[in-house]
Amino acid sequence: MTLDLYAVAGNPVAHSKSPQIHAMFAAQTGHSLRYERLLCPLDGFADAVRAFAAHAKGCNITVPFKFEAFEMAARRTPRAELAGAVNALRFDEGGWLGDNTDGAGLVGDIERNAGLRLAGKRVLLLGAGGASSGVMGALISARPAEIVLANRTVAKAEAIVERHRGHAGQLGVVLESRGLDDCGEGFDLLVNGTAASLAGAGVPVSARVLKPGTLSVDMMYGPAAQPFLDWARAAGATPRDGLGMLVEQAAESFEFWRGVRPDTAPVLAALR
Ligand code: ATR
Repeated sequence: MTLDLYAVAGNPVAHSKSPQIHAMFAAQTGHSLRYERLLCPLDGFADAVRAFAAHAKGCNITVPFKFEAFEMAARRTPRAELAGAVNALRFDEGGWLGDNTDGAGLVGDIERNAGLRLAGKRVLLLGAGGASSGVMGALISARPAEIVLANRTVAKAEAIVERHRGHAGQLGVVLESRGLDDCGEGFDLLVNGTAASLAGAGVPVSARVLKPGTLSVDMMYGPAAQPFLDWARAAGATPRDGLGMLVEQAAESFEFWRGVRPDTAPVLAALR
């Protein structure tokens, strides 16, 4: 019997923990599958994924290909449409279905694992690249009172806010775009979706955005997240890296492909 095949497609992918996570999900649920890493040339994502799809069931997509994956999907889930990016493809016979599980992964980690209910809370999201754009819809769906999207280039934040106006309006969530030096004070949740740490630039906002205990999540994990986590801890906030989000988005992907939701707690504990 050949095993159902999946992969994480990206560049780079060598350090991805997704194969390990999906192997644990498969063992836990009794599903027989194989999950690999698919390193795609920067100018050859489409060809690499088409070749892989000839003998596989689906794949996750990581940087920098989530927008290309969006274009390649014949059909998309509403949350993928809202995100404008696809991080999970299912190779259905009648046409590939694209989903985006990043936002649900972030909100699941915040609400279930970190224990912060977002309803009625004040949220500050930093950055207006693919990472922030991908999670905005799910943050709105959790019905906080307010989400401020702050970015170095304010026009990019404005564009994301405009795209989500309708969704936010329906749920009564106040959405605002701001610059990094006037984004407000004392938020309940801070999410870092900037690449500032990677650029060695530190944290691009004043600690006034925090209050004691503010949950401060970096969407990255490992050394890239460390400057942000250290900054948050020093300010009396509660730091959290992106490992929980990674495991939760993987569980959402697994359910999207296999119809079964794995238990994330033992997997996150094993990775820590
Ligand atoms: P991704 O798709 O992973 O989110 P990206 O599209 O390159 O990556 O976005 C990176 C984000 O980090 C952007 O919002 C960027 O700000 P700009 O839109 O103004 O470029 C932000 N960023 C990167 N380096 C930064 C720095 N040194 N200070 C503040 N913001 C920074």
